[in-house]
Amino acid sequence: MRPSDLDDVMAIEEVSFPTPWSRRMFLEDFPRDFSDTLVAAGAEDEVLGYAVCWTIAGESHLLNIAVHSARRGQGIGRALLSECIRRAARAGASVIFLEVRAGNEAAQRLYRSMGFAFRGIRKGYYTDAGGEDAIILDREVRKSDATG
Ligand SMILES: CC(C)(COP(=O)(O)OP(=O)(O)OC[C@H]1O[C@@H](n2cnc3c(N)ncnc32)[C@H](O)[C@@H]1OP(=O)(O)O)[C@@H](O)C(=O)NCCC(=O)NCCS
Repeated sequence: MRPSDLDDVMAIEEVSFPTPWSRRMFLEDFPRDFSDTLVAAGAEDEVLGYAVCWTIAGESHLLNIAVHSARRGQGIGRALLSECIRRAARAGASVIFLEVRAGNEAAQRLYRSMGFAFRGIRKGYYTDAGGEDAIILDREVRKSDATG
C-alpha cells in the first residue's frame, strides 16, 4: 500500500466497517517495519482490497482486511490473507491471530477455510454494535508457509 492508494482504500474502508480506520491510521503504519500493508490492485492500478498485518516477537496479528463490495466472492480476500501468512512466516512468526465480529459469517468462513481455529471470545468487544462479541481465531504459521 502506498499513500496514493489511500483514496481507494478509504472508500472501501468506510463502507466495510461500522467504525472505519482513519486515513491517518493507515499512514502511520507505513514506516513501521513490523507492519505489512498490502493491496490487491486491478488492471488500472485501482485498489480491489487490502490487508494490514503486524508481526512482533514471533506473533502475527491481522488487524484489517477488506475487499471492494463489488469484487467480493472472487478470491481476493483469500489471496490477501495467503500473502499475510506468507509474510508472517518470512518474518519468523509461529502463529497468526485475529478478531472477528461474531456475526461476520463471510469472514469467519474465509478464516476457517484457511486453517484458523477458535481460540476465545472477547465479550462485548465491539461497542459500536451494541456490544457484539469478538471471536478470536488463530492459526499456526509454519516455515513452509513462507513459500506456500
Ligand atoms: C471478508 C472479506 C474480506 C472476504 O473477501 P472476499 O474476497 O469476498 O473472499 P473470497 O472471495 O476470497 O472468499 C474466500 C472464502 O470466504 C468465504 N466467503 C466469502 N464471502 C462469503 C459470503 N458472502 N458468505 C459466506 N462465505 C463467504 C467462503 O468460504 C469463501 O470461499 P469459497 O469461495 O471457496 O466458498 C469480504 O467479505 C469483506 O471485505 N468484508 C467486509 C470487511 C470485513 O468484514 N473484513 C473482515 C473483518 S474481520
